Amino acid sequence: MHKSVIVVATAVCIVSYSSCTCPNTFNNALLELHYGIVYKGHNTTFNGCVRGNSDITRIVLRTPTMNIFKGTFSNLTVLDYLALDNANLHVIEAQFAENLPKLRTFSASMNQIREIGYNVLNNLPLKNIYLSINTISEIANGAFSGMDLVYLHLNNNELHSINSNWFLNTTIKGLYLSSNHIELLWTETFSGIIGMETLDLGRNKIHYIDCDTFSTQRSLESLFMKGNSLLNLDFDIGSNLQVLDVSFNMIFSTSLERMTNVEAIIILPNPWVCKCLEKLVNESKLLNIKIMQRVAERTQERLNAPICVVADTTCGNNVAPVNTVHREYFRRVHYAKIIRYWVQWRSYPHDFENRNITFKRNWIQCFK
Ligand SMILES: *[C@@H]1O[C@H](CO)[C@@H](O)[C@H](O)[C@H]1NC(C)=O
Ligand SMILES: *[C@@H]1O[C@H](CO)[C@@H](O)[C@H](O)[C@H]1NC(C)=O
Ligand SMILES: *[C@@H]1O[C@H](CO)[C@@H](O)[C@H](O)[C@H]1NC(C)=O
Ligand SMILES: *[C@@H]1O[C@H](CO)[C@@H](O)[C@H](O)[C@H]1NC(C)=O
Ligand SMILES: *[C@@H]1O[C@H](CO)[C@@H](O)[C@H](O)[C@H]1NC(C)=O
Repeated sequence: MHKSVIVVATAVCIVSYSSCTCPNTFNNALLELHYGIVYKGHNTTFNGCVRGNSDITRIVLRTPTMNIFKGTFSNLTVLDYLALDNANLHVIEAQFAENLPKLRTFSASMNQIREIGYNVLNNLPLKNIYLSINTISEIANGAFSGMDLVYLHLNNNELHSINSNWFLNTTIKGLYLSSNHIELLWTETFSGIIGMETLDLGRNKIHYIDCDTFSTQRSLESLFMKGNSLLNLDFDIGSNLQVLDVSFNMIFSTSLERMTNVEAIIILPNPWVCKCLEKLVNESKLLNIKIMQRVAERTQERLNAPICVVADTTCGNNVAPVNTVHREYFRRVHYAKIIRYWVQWRSYPHDFENRNITFKRNWIQCFK
């Protein structure tokens, strides 16, 4: 009988703290804890907080838990890794974690988190943040301010725009924002970010990019924008960009004049006007830019995209051709999540000239 009383009492705090008054956070959640230098795990259940411990290096939450309240994790002097993935999390309160001087990785992917507030993460010394596959649609001003990050993963969420105020004096090497609903990029969108090397904006709805959006990102090496709605490449890119992926967009005619330092552009498939693609290929040779294409791992007809779809005899003016061929193209050619793609170098002009581009008005033929 006394035993059960003791169990309840110790369940309030992982490490009994004489004056511990944790909010009731978890309902007998299971935590996998890893202690100290000798890497050994053990599981424990608790209802309250994890506080004042100098041995725990990793915490993995194993039980679905709706809310993580303020003060849940604090004064854990060697904690390096905190994972709350796939835990049915809806809310992470500001200051849920405090005084974790060694915390480098926070992961809360595959939850139902809708919002990242101020002082949820920006008060922690993190390097890596994984928030993929949630329902995040709101991020507070300053939510990542002053941080020095290697990876920030926000892909597969419900973001409709990027607010430049999320990042103020923020260092991020790799920013992953694919599979959201972002439409527009402005000059100031990334202006609070320093040292960005990789930016993934794939599978959004981007149809407009301000000319200077990327020009101040001097470290940017890889920019992935596959599966958006871009009509052209009418924007500047940082001087260091090596790879630009704009496959699966709506490009039918564009110039490389703003892309002069890029090494390779993945620009196929797109619904090209054949003559405009030919012009681009000529331009790419002059500028020494590689033209590449994405191809599906398993060739299925719907992914065996034509190299160009409008067989006009000139590369005429910049009115997007909308006709039955185009509608058929977009019905069949899209970037599918479940299919694996790789990037293939097309050696022009050989491949290009081998194709019977005068026949492209007939969709079924040009699909081969
Ligand atoms: C902790 O519990 C989880 C889930 O029941 C289990 O997979 C894991 O092996 C346990 N870890 C230890 C160290 O007992
Ligand atoms: C954390 O440690 C500081 C300094 O030892 C102490 O003042 C504070 O009360 C502790 N906080 C919690 C929540 O345990
Ligand atoms: C930016 O952050 C660095 C360290 O991360 C800091 O030294 C510097 O003072 C900050 N600058 C501003 C303007 O906040
Ligand atoms: C591309 O270059 C080839 C060879 O110089 C030339 O015959 C062709 O007319 C050019 N095409 C376009 C569209 O400029
Ligand atoms: C190109 O297509 C046209 C129309 O079907 C055909 O008459 C012609 O022989 C084809 N040319 C080549 C080189 O395959």
